Amino acid sequence: MSKIKACLFDLDGVVVDTAKYHYLAWERLASSLGFNFTKKDNERLKGVSRMKSLEILLSIGNIKACDSEKLKMAQQKNNWYVEYISKLDSKEILPGVKNFLIELRQNGIKIALGSASKNSMLILNNLNLTSYFDAIVDGNKVSKAKPDPEVFLLGASELKVQPLECVVFEDAQAGIDAAKAANMKVIGIGQKDVLLNADKVFEGLRDAHIDLIEF
Ligand code: BG6
Ligand code: MG
Repeated sequence: MSKIKACLFDLDGVVVDTAKYHYLAWERLASSLGFNFTKKDNERLKGVSRMKSLEILLSIGNIKACDSEKLKMAQQKNNWYVEYISKLDSKEILPGVKNFLIELRQNGIKIALGSASKNSMLILNNLNLTSYFDAIVDGNKVSKAKPDPEVFLLGASELKVQPLECVVFEDAQAGIDAAKAANMKVIGIGQKDVLLNADKVFEGLRDAHIDLIEF
């Protein structure tokens, strides 16, 4: 058993429910391109990078586009998304998050963000949570998307801890796979039957407690 020294958190779906805003923006893009994009379709985009999400969306609409058109579409989607998340405030922090972050700090556990989102700083600032993190690794710092372990390995290195001393909190299968590839423990956030290979699964961070992060 190795002693846990750090917790690494995914952002979207773990700290805040931004999936609904991603959905609104993707749905708006799909509708501008003339097809429907459902909430069920949106499930396929969780944890997936912006450009990969666009590829999935275009395949649903059966739309072909060249690289420069794709970049324009991704930029348009992001403009709409940023419009929505600019109005976020601390009321949208998911239940249990703040108390758990406080408990970790009081117990000397280091805290990092490990997110694919290039909008992480805007979100954390609007939620008033930035100062709770000792390191922030987001989509602007990494070049390989989850399930590649880069985002979490960089988080551990910024915190100066070993991968085996880390626990990752993730709501997406790609993120769980990334944590496992980084040789870290992982706690899935969501439903047990859909989050495969997590060491434990909690419905939300409301159920998290310092005693439960030892393995
Ligand atoms: C992930 C989300 O955290 O970030 C994905 O789960 C999103 O849905 C990805 O596509 C990239 O986010 P952004 O904000 O850089 O477009
Ligand atoms: Mg997520």
